[in-house]
Order: sequence, then structure tokens, then C-alpha cells
Amino acid sequence: MSHLYRHLRIHQIFGANTDVGKTVIAAALVRASTLTNHNTFYLKPVSTGPPQHADDVHVERYAGPHRHLLNTQCLFRYEDPVSPHLAVRMASQRSGVESSAPSDETFVNAVAEHIRACARTGKPGHMYVETAGGVHSPTLSGTTQLESYRPLFLPTVLVGDSKLGGISSTISSYESLVLRGYIVDAILLFRDDYYRNYEYLSPYFAERGVHVTSLHPPPPLQGNVNEDISATEAYYANLAPRSLDGEIFHALRHLNECHAHRIKELDSMPRRTLDSIWWPFVQHGLVKSEKDVTVIDSAWADFFSVYDSSSEPSTCSLLAPKLDGSASWWTQAVGHAHPSLALAAANAAGRYGHVMFPNATHLPALKLAERLVHEGPGVGWASRAFFTDNGSTGMEVALKMALRSFSINEKELTPRDKKDLWIVGLKGSYHGDTIGAMDATEEGVYTCEWHQSKGFWFEPPTVAIKNGNFVVSVPSPISPSTSSVHFDDLHSVYDIENRLHSPLADIYRTHVRNTLQALRRKGERKLAALVLEPIVMGAGGMIFVDPLFQRVLVDAVRDKSLFENPLPVIFDEVFVGLYRLGMKSFGPLLGVNPDIAVYAKILTGGVLPLSVTLASERVFQAFNSPSKVDALLHGHSYTAHAVGCQVANTTLDMIEMLSQQDPWRLAREKWSCGARRESAVVWSFWDPGFVRSVSRLAVVHEAMTLGTVLVIKFKDDGAGKVLPSLRALSCRKQLLGYASHTAQSLLRSIESPVCESGALSAAPGGAPFGIHYRTLGNVAYFMTSLNTPLQTIEEIENRLWKTLSATHVN
Ligand SMILES: Cc1ncc(COP(=O)(O)O)c(C=O)c1O
Ligand SMILES: *[C@@H]1O[C@H](CO)[C@@H](O)[C@H](O)[C@H]1NC(C)=O
Ligand SMILES: *[C@@H]1O[C@H](CO)[C@@H](O)[C@H](O)[C@H]1NC(C)=O
Ligand SMILES: *[C@@H]1O[C@H](CO)[C@@H](O)[C@H](O)[C@H]1NC(C)=O
Repeated sequence: MSHLYRHLRIHQIFGANTDVGKTVIAAALVRASTLTNHNTFYLKPVSTGPPQHADDVHVERYAGPHRHLLNTQCLFRYEDPVSPHLAVRMASQRSGVESSAPSDETFVNAVAEHIRACARTGKPGHMYVETAGGVHSPTLSGTTQLESYRPLFLPTVLVGDSKLGGISSTISSYESLVLRGYIVDAILLFRDDYYRNYEYLSPYFAERGVHVTSLHPPPPLQGNVNEDISATEAYYANLAPRSLDGEIFHALRHLNECHAHRIKELDSMPRRTLDSIWWPFVQHGLVKSEKDVTVIDSAWADFFSVYDSSSEPSTCSLLAPKLDGSASWWTQAVGHAHPSLALAAANAAGRYGHVMFPNATHLPALKLAERLVHEGPGVGWASRAFFTDNGSTGMEVALKMALRSFSINEKELTPRDKKDLWIVGLKGSYHGDTIGAMDATEEGVYTCEWHQSKGFWFEPPTVAIKNGNFVVSVPSPISPSTSSVHFDDLHSVYDIENRLHSPLADIYRTHVRNTLQALRRKGERKLAALVLEPIVMGAGGMIFVDPLFQRVLVDAVRDKSLFENPLPVIFDEVFVGLYRLGMKSFGPLLGVNPDIAVYAKILTGGVLPLSVTLASERVFQAFNSPSKVDALLHGHSYTAHAVGCQVANTTLDMIEMLSQQDPWRLAREKWSCGARRESAVVWSFWDPGFVRSVSRLAVVHEAMTLGTVLVIKFKDDGAGKVLPSLRALSCRKQLLGYASHTAQSLLRSIESPVCESGALSAAPGGAPFGIHYRTLGNVAYFMTSLNTPLQTIEEIENRLWKTLSATHVN
């Protein structure tokens, strides 16, 4: 991951093209650094071409009077003067031994290891990492440099192109760096007095706040080697004189200032944050000090790069990888800062910005809608997509749709009745923090003063792995006699068609029917919709609901003998949908489609908020009339924003690809239970053996997994530790759970990195990583992206295993 050291300033040098003077400018910077008495490290990760002409040899040769302060290194060297990806192949062909190019991971780890070694010397100084060719030139594997170096996130110096066409290639290179999140501290280029690009580029970049330095160009190649060497030496002596004046020292001071400023800013962020930010879901009274603030400097793949001003020992990077164990509140799908998503966002921002949507259309929204309705989760039942900004508002719209489509078919509904319509749902649901979404749940920690619980909430039976067994636990209101049912494997639990004929199905049917009939008899409120989070209630505590119970509920509200006018069914798939739990949507698994369904979170790959509410034609027609007032008069300023829609469609494209690839296939096979099925319908990225073993641990009450989600529920610490101030609030079971700190205290140790001697971690660059995770009371959960490498998952599993198996119950 990122590298940042107090004692060592590092810059990576990119070129606007090949042959723009990258090495000459690197050599000048190196010489200037040594002349100012800094230990100087020069790294050329990949060199192609004859060794005697290699860049590190040049830098070494012209290092100047303080050359003893210089350390140069090249990690991968190839003889052919061609692009690295080709040089590897040519070398392999020549040697006659088939060998594949070093992977991106090997490459980045090697660079990172070298940087760490230089930092460990403890010598204060400067380091330059010189890339090869232009910003997009390929590295060994063929991945372009901007992308393969990105995990290291080194601040950059761009060497501009001073020749004809160079204005354009310099600006393009700069924009490519910016689009991938790089910090560009300075642009350096030669002063070519014929093309005079610097005259154009200096003010151009000054306006954009980027420092430009122009340098005298090197002398032309001389007739013989000795003359050439002395002319070049004279050139460098002139560019970086012992007097320490001249443009290169100006640039050097600027780079030093950028480095100092970055650290100073990072140091100041916790205090400034505590002084000006009000966090979501945080009791500020529990935030003790600046140490409690997680300063995220950048992110990549599944990792945050987190700043720690007091990292020990002092030669360690101030930035360390921290696994984003909650997939950033369940949003990440393909890893942080994915270049394809960043480009999709930039492209739509460049083409549209935001454009208002009523009566209008644009390709990003249209394509996304068509895809969701005809190929995506809406396939077979939805006819329309309605866009909103986030899961909460997506649910608000869903509720409006459901209530209207119910009312319009309900005769004899007075205006008073309409105000009092109720929904049916489950205890433990969560649909968002806007007021209407809150009213669609029972009272709990997430609700507020205005909250009015507008519905009836069933206490649901749940699924978990207890002591290695798959168990459905049935709460006593449903059945006083049957408290649990055991299953052989995951598939039997989710095999709804089969289970519909089980005795438990009858128990559920009877309970649901009796309860609904009793509610109707009381007649205080009219039931108007069924609202479910299929399979898992996330925010309510990662509760895996028995899918059979949900199916029975859906069947009941559509049963003509119970409801003459069937209740519309809303699936809130904001969290569970789009493969978070291994499936696109859960209608097919439950064997019933909803009338309305909501998606968000993964939808945009975790780049920006966007939500979509899908509706059936019947629901749509409830609002369709010649009169404006019948319309769904609902919308947000940013409805169907083009940037979000474009990113969403790109994300769905990427997920489609992932679903065809090996890691998914292998994970499915692991869960397929031998020969019975070749590919599992319900499956998980987490290892079946691991999850079962965890469920047997002394401290663990139960565990469960599907898709990217792993949930561990710990044996409760009882209400003893609940904070008094929380207990004073209306005190429900859910509240007690939320206030419990068991999971947090048990898992504290996985938050910090562990250094296994010499072993590289699964984090990009191989640095040891801590795990950032979220808990819901005595429940801890871990969530991967849809492309988290197996190696990363295994490392998390091992860490969890070590921590939890060493914990004893007291
Ligand atoms: C099931 C469910 N519905 C709705 C929401 C609200 O989504 P948002 O936070 O995007 O408003 C959430 C958020 O966690 C959720 O889990
Ligand atoms: C949409 O178009 C219809 C038909 O022209 C028009 O009556 C209506 O006012 C428009 N609505 C909005 C919100 O622009
Ligand atoms: C967007 O969606 C459509 C299908 O509706 C698809 O054909 C197209 O390739 C998608 N991708 C992008 C990046 O637009
Ligand atoms: C969701 O979007 C709505 C509409 O723009 C906004 O008012 C609300 O604050 C957002 N809510 C959340 C929880 O993000």
C-alpha cells in the first residue's frame, strides 16, 4: 500500500512520453538531493535495453561530488530496448525456457520491499522511483504503469514533453494521473527555445495549482564517448551547481515542502475533524481523543490506507493498509478506486454533469433502466425503473407506490383510513433513516422522536450454523413446541420448493394466517403492503431469516381467501441484492417475485449514491391517468444523475464478467456438497470448513455466511454492560444488542497489523495490515468485495481463527 515516511521523501517520476528526458531530470534531482546532503535512493524498477545504457548507470555516473550519498537499484532488467511487456517475452523466447512475466503482485511487492528496505536504514533523505516510457506504457505483465503502481500511491513528478506535440501529451498525461487519484506535486520539463512548450504549460498549470519548473536541455550527443561524458558532466554541474542555486533547487525545495505539508496536514486532520464534523451513527461522547479518528489518506482494492502519526518503529511507513472489512458500509463491489469506475464517472461528468430528468432521457439512465428491468433483478416481473438518490429514498418511493397501488383497488377506503394504512413486516427490519423509511419498521435505536411504527411486525425464525450444524430456530410465538429444526447442509435450508411441503411450512402458514386474521378482526388498521428484506436483515443485526417463512408470508398476503385485494409486496434488496449474498436477487430463490424492489449500495460499485426502485406494470398503472395529480409526484434534485447511472452500468458489466470467472466458480464448487450439484445456487466466498469450525468455538453462539458476508454472533455478555444512558431509552432487545460491546472487545486485536517475520501479507505491496470491521452489538460481520482475492479472504480467516480460538470463556 501507500508509503509515507517522515524521514524519507519519496517521489515517483512519470514521463509524458518516452524520450522526454525523464532520466536526465531524475539524475538532476538526484544530484541536487545529494548536494543538499540528503541520502538519496534512486530506484528504476524495470529497465530495458543494453545494461551499459541503463538509466541507473547514467544516474550513478553523473551523481556529482556527493555521490557517496547515493544508492541506486534496478529490480527487473531486460536487454531488448522495447516496452517491458515485450522485453519479458523476448527474453523468455531467447532463453528457450517458457516462463511467464512476473505478475503485478510480484512486481508491486518487489518495489514495496525495496522502498521499505531503504526506509529501514533510518537515513533521512530523498528517494526517486523512475518509471519506464510514458504514463500508460505497460509494465511486465502488460498492465499499464499508472495502474500497476497505483497501490503504492507515491506522490508524483511528471516530466513534461518539450517537443512538438508535447503540450498535448503533457496535459493528457497529467489528466491520466489525476483521474487515477495520484498526487501530482510538480511538472518538470526542458526549455526548448524553438517549441517553447514551457511558455504555454507554465501558466496553464499555474492556473490549476500545479508547480512547473523548466530546465536547460542537455547538450546534443557528442562525436565520441569521452567528449560526450565530459559535456554531460558539465551540463549537470551547471544545472545543479555546488552553490545550490538554480531551477532544480527551486523544484527540490518545492518537493520538500509538498512532503512536509502533506504530513502536517495529515497530523492536523484528527483535531480538525473533531472540531468540525458530526459523524453518522457515532456517539461523540465516546470518542476520547484524536487517536479515535481513522485518517484515510487513500484507498485501493479492499484496503484503506490509514495514517498513523506514531507508527512504530519510526522507520515504518506512516500509512498502513487496513482491510475494509465492512466493504465500506456494504457498498464496495469491485474494490476501491477502480480505474474503470473512475473513468466512467469522469466521462459522464464530462458529457452531462447533472441534467434534470422529468420528461427527459439520456443514455446512461436509459441503458441502466433497460438492463435492470429486462436482464437484471427485474427480469420476468418488473416493467419500470424509478431512480432516486439512496436506499432510504428508494424505499420511500417503494412505499408510496405500494400504498397507492393498494388503495386504488380498495373500495370503501375513507381519507381517514388512507392515513392509517399499515404494512406487514418483520421485527429487526431496517429500510433507511428518512422518516418514512423509519416508519416502516418497529421502534428501535435507529428511529427518532417523530417515529410512528406503522405496521405489524412478525418475529421471524432464523437460520444459523450452530456447533457445526445448520439450524432453523423458531421463536415461541410461532410454535411453542418446535424450537429448532436441523438441516444437513446449506442447500436443504434454501431449497424452498421442497420445504413448502414440510411440517414446518404448515406451522408457519397457520401462525401467519391466524395472526393476519386476528389483525383484520381487530379492524383498527388496514393492512396495505408487505415489506421484506429478503434472506438477511442487515442493519437489524445481520439476521438470516428463514427463507421459508418469508415465502409463506408472501403467499399469505396474495391469498384471495385472506385478502380480496392482494397486498403489494416490496423487496428491500438495497443490501442483499446484486450479488452481495451471492445472487442477483432473491425472487428466484424464494420462488415468488415482488411487485416492487429496491436496489442501491453495490449498484454503483461504492462510488456514489444512487438507488433504483423497480415496479411491476400493475403498480405503474395505479398512477397512470389523464390527471397530473394521480402521478407519482416524487423526485429529487439529483434523480437519475448521469454520473451515477454510467458508473452503475459499468459496475454491472464488471460483475457480469466476474460471475463467469474462476474465483466464483471455485467458491461455488466448495459449497456444492459433493456430487449432488456441480454448482451451488447458495454459496459463499468464505470457506465452508472455516465457518463451521468458527461456529463450534467456545465464545461463539452461532455463525452464518452467504455470498460475501460472514457473520459471527458471540455469546452475549448480558445486559450488564449496557450503557445506562441507552438503557434509559425505550429498551428493546434489539437496543440491548446494539449497545453490547462483546464483539468489539473480543476482536480488538485484529484491528492492528501483525508482522509475521518476513512474510508478505495479502495487501497490495505486502505490508502487514490491520482489519477495520463493524459490529452490531454482539454480532461481528465481515464483508468482501465481489473480486476480493482468495488469498486475502484466507488471511482474514486465519487471523480470525487465531484470535477467537485463543479466547476462553470466563
Ligand atoms: C436494507 C436496507 N434498506 C435501506 C437502506 C438505506 O440505504 P441508504 O443508506 O443508501 O439510504 C439500507 C442501508 O443500510 C439497508 O440496509
Ligand atoms: C411533461 O410533459 C407533459 C406533456 O408535454 C407536460 O404536460 C408536463 O407538464 C411535463 N412535466 C414536467 C414535469 O415537465
Ligand atoms: C450499459 O447497459 C447496456 C444494456 O442496457 C449494455 O449494452 C452496455 O454495454 C452497458 N455498458 C456501458 C458501459 O454503457
Ligand atoms: C437520501 O437522499 C435524499 C434525497 O436526496 C436526501 O434527502 C437524504 O438525506 C438521503 N438520505 C440518506 C440517509 O442518505
